[in-house]
Amino acid sequence: MRSSCKGSPLEAIQVIRGMRDLLPEQTAWWRRMERELLGVLERFGYQELRTPLLEPTALFKRSIGEATDIVEKEMYTFQDRDGGWVTLRPEGTASAVRAYLENSTWKKEPVSRWYYLGPMFRHERPQKGRYRMFSQVGAELLGAGEPAADVELVDLAVECVRAVGLSDVTLELNSLGCPACRPAYRERLVSYLGAQRAGLCELCQRRMEVNPLRVLDCKVEGCQRVAEEAPRILDFLGPECLAHLEAVRAGLEALGHAYRLNHRMVRGLDYYTRTTFELVSGGLGSQSAVVGGGRYDGLVAQLGGPEIPAVGFAAGLDRILLRLMELRERPAGPPVLFVASHGEAGSRAALPLVQRLRRAGHKVVTDVRAGSLKAQLKRADKEGARLVLVLGEDELRAGEVSVKDMAAPEGAPDKQVRCALGDLERVVGEKLGGV
Ligand code: HAM
Repeated sequence: MRSSCKGSPLEAIQVIRGMRDLLPEQTAWWRRMERELLGVLERFGYQELRTPLLEPTALFKRSIGEATDIVEKEMYTFQDRDGGWVTLRPEGTASAVRAYLENSTWKKEPVSRWYYLGPMFRHERPQKGRYRMFSQVGAELLGAGEPAADVELVDLAVECVRAVGLSDVTLELNSLGCPACRPAYRERLVSYLGAQRAGLCELCQRRMEVNPLRVLDCKVEGCQRVAEEAPRILDFLGPECLAHLEAVRAGLEALGHAYRLNHRMVRGLDYYTRTTFELVSGGLGSQSAVVGGGRYDGLVAQLGGPEIPAVGFAAGLDRILLRLMELRERPAGPPVLFVASHGEAGSRAALPLVQRLRRAGHKVVTDVRAGSLKAQLKRADKEGARLVLVLGEDELRAGEVSVKDMAAPEGAPDKQVRCALGDLERVVGEKLGGV
């Protein structure tokens, strides 16, 4: 709570910049979105993986890459009380691969399909759609290098955003080649960028040396002009990478997924090989990528395991939700039954009734403050109750309860009925069945 008293020693404590509370208004949206996404993942045969939020810092340095924005300046890294360096995970792929190796999963099954869900942490500059704590749903397929795996992951990502109701997304596709063909491209790109140096922003002039591919997706206008004319990686792919890309494209076409080849989509993490893709949503401004992913055939070996190819993606839930709140109605919860009672005897009689109804699976709300029946009925209205169950003096005497149907028109014969207490579940069931 904000302190109202200036100079008070009780300084108001506020949420950390770039982080947010999700109040019940938002969590209702959030939970529906999660339910729909997880439904798709399960239907594709993916199983849930849960890993710690905190990992050894070295894991991210070795996987995401030392020269990336994430590792250079965005990680929440600190020394824990034992003196070891730890980092709040900025993404989920590195942890998934660590768990895959640590549990020798590759010895137990040829192909693993995992998904995960949860918060990630990056100390970025906050803006609409970009937070320092944000949530991802990610999917990883480990153990298959075939283009069919890439196609499955892209299809899965598209189905995920479709299932939640995001209609305005476009699929962008690229290939970043492999360690055999990328060096020649990199060399050619660096020499092109060297000639254009004056047109690049300060950061890109530095990127040119350490991570030249990142110049291609810089948002600064001058850099974009330079990037547009830059040599294209697709012209440098070796025959195997090219065949892989063609097979992925054929698969996507067979599924009817339209896509745009975007030679400037290089992704912000170093582990990618061959296919990379993003789903971009209109109406989100500059933070428009709702899904990002691709193949990372070298990562398992890079982290000390055997040569095992893999491909995956992660969807940014905060961004998806921003868009959904503009596009979809707020999710309706289950119908509310409100139990109102008169006096002490009434509230005593209401207790087991409420318990019974809840055990029967209904959502039941009461006003726990001892108030007049009138005040309770007002409360019922505020709660958007579908049925109001009244235990007034009359009802108590008769061992009955009045059931008021808030959805029925005023004056309708079934607007309010009375029934025996023991018959309540049946009456409630009938009323709700007729919704
Ligand atoms: P990423 O592109 O860094 O990829 O993140 C994936 C998605 O997370 C983005 O498209 C975006 O929707 C969301 N996201 C990223 N940063 C933020 C932020 N600061 N605020 C809000 N949303 C954000 C990865 O993380 C890879 N691990 C994906 C992957 C899985 N590749 C292979 N497997």
